[in-house]
Amino acid sequence: MKSLVSLLGGSPLLPIIQTEQPAVAVAIAQAMYQGGVSAVEVVLRTPTALESISKIRQALPQLKVGAGTILSGADAVNAKNAGAQFLVSPASTPALLSAMIGTGLPLAPGVSTASEIAMALEMGLTELKFFPAHLSGGSAMLNALSSIFRQVKFCPTGGIGLHNLQEFLQLPNVFVVGGSWLTPADLVRAGDYQAITGLVEQSLALAAVEPLRKQA
Ligand code: 3PG
Repeated sequence: MKSLVSLLGGSPLLPIIQTEQPAVAVAIAQAMYQGGVSAVEVVLRTPTALESISKIRQALPQLKVGAGTILSGADAVNAKNAGAQFLVSPASTPALLSAMIGTGLPLAPGVSTASEIAMALEMGLTELKFFPAHLSGGSAMLNALSSIFRQVKFCPTGGIGLHNLQEFLQLPNVFVVGGSWLTPADLVRAGDYQAITGLVEQSLALAAVEPLRKQA
């Protein structure tokens, strides 16, 4: 299994894309790529999400495109067939983890407790999504987990935005932060893709501030 950390290559942001319209998904991805993002996660929360993944892959071959909200083995296989290059889930069960591992794609399954982390570790997984980050103890919880699960790296999502992304990125056990703050509904509705590029640039500038910058 390939590593998600290496696929992302040190890029600190993993923005979520959720829209009913594949053409809009491509426009958002384009705006994010222009702002400097190297990977996006299309969440399987709309009937057109798989089509959006395929369209973004065709339009922007340089961008890494993952599928999020994987809830079943079928989701994992469908996402891979649509062109997803990595998988993210909000939760972990042994069956879901086996199915995701079975695709051979890099993955970050969701955990929020020490026991879920231990289960993922038993299955050989050390790159995990911490969700919902703000409600599960936030950066203080990740800090506490770092001394126990020393080999685990997290992608926190849930409640992350411009106001707190630095707090998470400065933790040594965080490899990327994810979320929907880069696609506010009003900007998407207005088709203001320039503003989305601006938000990405603003977020990357915050992420690059010393001593946040970490070695990939
Ligand atoms: C996810 O799927 O990771 C969450 O929806 C992200 O949460 P957010 O919308 O609060 O960023």
